[in-house]
Amino acid sequence: MNYSPLLTVMVRAARKAGALAVQFFDRRHQLEVAFKGKDDPVTSADTAVEKEILFHLRKAYPRYGILAEESPPSTGKEEWQWVVDPIDGTLNFLHGNPHFALSIGLARGDELQAGVVYDPVRDELFTAERGRGAFLNDQRIRVSDRGTLNGALIATGFPLRRKHLAAPYLSSFAAVFAASADIRRAGSASLDLAYTAAGRFDGFWESGLSPWDIAAGCIIVQEAGGFCSDFQGGNQFLGSGNIVAGNPNLHRHLLTTLEGSELPQALGQSGTGPG
Ligand code: IPD
Ligand code: CA
Ligand code: CA
Repeated sequence: MNYSPLLTVMVRAARKAGALAVQFFDRRHQLEVAFKGKDDPVTSADTAVEKEILFHLRKAYPRYGILAEESPPSTGKEEWQWVVDPIDGTLNFLHGNPHFALSIGLARGDELQAGVVYDPVRDELFTAERGRGAFLNDQRIRVSDRGTLNGALIATGFPLRRKHLAAPYLSSFAAVFAASADIRRAGSASLDLAYTAAGRFDGFWESGLSPWDIAAGCIIVQEAGGFCSDFQGGNQFLGSGNIVAGNPNLHRHLLTTLEGSELPQALGQSGTGPG
């Protein structure tokens, strides 16, 4: 496939750093693990993989800003900004579950421009650039065409670092569970979004995420013909970390179903920012 110069750089960064991530995964028992917070581990693999990604991005685009999970942010005044999660699914990674991804997004102001989500274990590369469609290993992907929640397979994430939200979260879970065929919690938000873009999930919702969890995955969903929004149906999902995604019909049904649960109100009371 003929990538644009921009995607060429992003894909190179993802593939080089992905190979490194797999090496670390194979010897994960030797990793140094520190904790940024309760249930929020960071390993020497996260920092080394991020360093490799940023090396390739900076080399090609030295003036772009950087918002990356394991690094101090740049000034934030740059028009173009990389939004990077070196290992999305660190808890899976540390437990030997081979379901994690590298996530590289690019935003211009508030608008997402391009995204790469790479699962190095399965060698699945999800890519998208604004206006140019979404791809999995260079094959065009599209969101599913399921019209209602009936029979739908929906992905979600638990509020693992905000356990005080368990009850309102479970209210949203119960509402979606009652209306759909089943729900998956696989442990990597970027892959949840990439799978939604590929039609492997009909939709996805989670709260309290960080921009690096969702930037790349969201443009992949959008370019695959789907919608991403916050819980009010607006476009503040990167800032709030509260996200609903799916094909256009499913997205609408998911939003309505979530509105009927206790989650949006609880998020309003506890602040909507990531945590
Ligand atoms: C996490 C994963 C997980 C989601 C968490 C994220 P990390 O990212 O995306 O699926 O539920 O909220 O923080 O910490 O493994 O990069
Ligand atoms: Ca993450
Ligand atoms: Ca991470």
